[in-house]
Amino acid sequence: MPEAAAPAPTVDPAFRADVKRGLAQPEPAVPARWLYDTRGSELFDAITRLDEYYPTRTETAIMRDNAAAIAAAAGKGGALIEFGAGSVTKTPLMLDALEPDHYVPIDISGDYLRASAAELQQDHPDLAIDPIEADFTKPFDLPDEIAGLERIGFFPGSTIGNFVPRSAADLLRTFRDILRDGSKLLIGMDRIKDLDRLRAAYDDRDGVTAAFNKNLLTRMQRELGAELDPDAFVHEARWNEMLGRIEMHLVAVRDTAIALDGERFAFARGDSIHTENSHKYGPRGARCLLLAGGWTPTHEWTDPAGDFAFILAEAQPNRFAP
Ligand code: TRP
Repeated sequence: MPEAAAPAPTVDPAFRADVKRGLAQPEPAVPARWLYDTRGSELFDAITRLDEYYPTRTETAIMRDNAAAIAAAAGKGGALIEFGAGSVTKTPLMLDALEPDHYVPIDISGDYLRASAAELQQDHPDLAIDPIEADFTKPFDLPDEIAGLERIGFFPGSTIGNFVPRSAADLLRTFRDILRDGSKLLIGMDRIKDLDRLRAAYDDRDGVTAAFNKNLLTRMQRELGAELDPDAFVHEARWNEMLGRIEMHLVAVRDTAIALDGERFAFARGDSIHTENSHKYGPRGARCLLLAGGWTPTHEWTDPAGDFAFILAEAQPNRFAP
């Protein structure tokens, strides 16, 4: 008897559309969100534990070492609203420090959101958790349950750095519209530092970040039926000095092509597909970005080396001003 064919994996049609559009551009690029399939998410998790990848452990140490000061400045109680489903270490740290009455995690992946909310509820049985399945780059309403409570937004991980500044300012303004006047925001931002250390954080010696980046190519083969040779591309982490960011690229090591749905995208040796940005900010740049997004920075905590900043900002109501 012939074996039943494996069920076709469900492929998001937006993936196909983004790849076709992105590869057709003069500077080929694919939106970074497509790096995160199941395999990509596992590899990303491994990245956060690498020796070279300092941001996760540095931000966690800042939060731990300054928990009392953060709570004193941000205020205890109220509602903690996290943009993203929450990290297993950072979220409990903030919950223990701020002791909010409600915790509102927001994530685009409902399954991931529900799983992480359920896990958190086990360790915090008295905490009211009100998850929202939403794309936090678009406006949405907060749950009625937190009406009247003080609101503190939480956006760790230097995720703001993965947005180009124009989109980052838009996102901060959306956060302000969601949280409203008088709310606060706790946000992590990675700083500009020694360039070799920056590059190593995005190009580790074990090749985990390289595998994470190259997973995009195998995903294109698997899900879209793209014809390409993954070995014709290598991972590269580049510092862009003018724009103050690390860029991840997949660079062709020889002339090659990607064929997809009858279209052919040619790459000469040295051409690249741009897959991710991670903007870094100095102290002044970080504050300017927040201000441009409608948030007034009020407190800032860093590690002793000044590698990473954890900033508290306020949505101050508009005042009559000169
Ligand atoms: N926002 C973090 C950073 O830019 C995490 C991250 C997002 C990341 N995409 C990445 C880390 C790609 C390594 C590679 O560092």
